[in-house]
Amino acid sequence: MHHNDTDYIGTRRLSVAPMLDWTDRHYRYMARQITRHTWLYSEMVNAGAINYGDKDRFLMFNEGEQPVALQLGGSEPSELARAAKTAEQYGYNEINLNCGCPSPRVQKGAFGACLMNEADLVADCLNAMQDAVNIPVTVKHRIGIDRQTEYQVVADFVGTLRGKTACKTFIVHARNAWLDGLSPKENRDIPPLKYDYVYRLKQEFPDLEIIINGGITTNEQIAEHLNHVDGVMIGREAYHNPMMMRDWDSLFYGDTATPVAYQDLVQRLFAYSQAQIRAGRGTTLRHIVRHSLGLMHGLNKARVWRRMLSDAALLKDNDGSLILEAWKEVEQANRWD
Ligand SMILES: Cc1cc2nc3c(=O)[nH]c(=O)nc-3n(C[C@H](O)[C@H](O)[C@H](O)COP(=O)(O)O)c2cc1C
Repeated sequence: MHHNDTDYIGTRRLSVAPMLDWTDRHYRYMARQITRHTWLYSEMVNAGAINYGDKDRFLMFNEGEQPVALQLGGSEPSELARAAKTAEQYGYNEINLNCGCPSPRVQKGAFGACLMNEADLVADCLNAMQDAVNIPVTVKHRIGIDRQTEYQVVADFVGTLRGKTACKTFIVHARNAWLDGLSPKENRDIPPLKYDYVYRLKQEFPDLEIIINGGITTNEQIAEHLNHVDGVMIGREAYHNPMMMRDWDSLFYGDTATPVAYQDLVQRLFAYSQAQIRAGRGTTLRHIVRHSLGLMHGLNKARVWRRMLSDAALLKDNDGSLILEAWKEVEQANRWD
């Protein structure tokens, strides 16, 4: 099959994973300066928080941030539908349902990864959401829970949803969730990765968009996975080393624009932080720069950058100039040619 590289513009060929406490709008603003095309996911938001809480707080995002997807948590079809509709009105490009989160807090509400054992309920949720909105409704899940080790578990889950819903996009974190005995953090590292299960899903359901996730950290690995599936979702590496995203537009979307220079990115972050602090809403400098600590990864003085931008005494003035001061240290310590 031959693709024109630019056919990928505006697709989920690459995406940044939903990460609670990490992929808020400030992180996504920075990510969007680094890659124009990568699909960005929000933190998980509970449907009830949107329906009964401060909608702006949970849904507001920055202009120019799109394409951006909202991830919802929940298992009550009408609640999810209502939240999805509100999110669509805010301008999100996709609503994703979380069926992969192993946190105990989530298990109590009977959602997250436990939903993998309840494909019919998930189908009801997805159908209610899709009936309420015109944007795509997608799902993110694991390959099984607890001791389910057969490929057939995830194949049945996806097959059921394919039969009962209009959902076309499945994001698969290629490991089990062990609901008993592992913390959420351990659940991202300990259950073994089985990329071949995800590749098999794509073979068995070629009409579906299958996106692979879990443990992927280099552009070489991304390129290899793209030989087997439609898209790659990156979580932790895109957070800890955001500049890895600098080459994604050219490598994976066929966009020949010059990648952003560190100098320009820093200037934009400075301007953004000043504007956000001025705008109020309780935003502090720390809320913004805490997502930038890994930005200088691999450069000389990356640690000085990190230290300055996490120093409570320096942050308390709430003045974005700190970003420029930290940058001066890095700029002087590296060769830029
Ligand atoms: C801090 C943190 C928070 C996360 N929060 C969510 C979440 O809200 N929803 C979700 O579906 N997955 C969440 N995840 C899981 C990631 O989306 C992803 O599936 C996982 O980290 C594996 O990808 P990676 O190896 O590229 O990081 C979270 C992961 C991390 C590290």
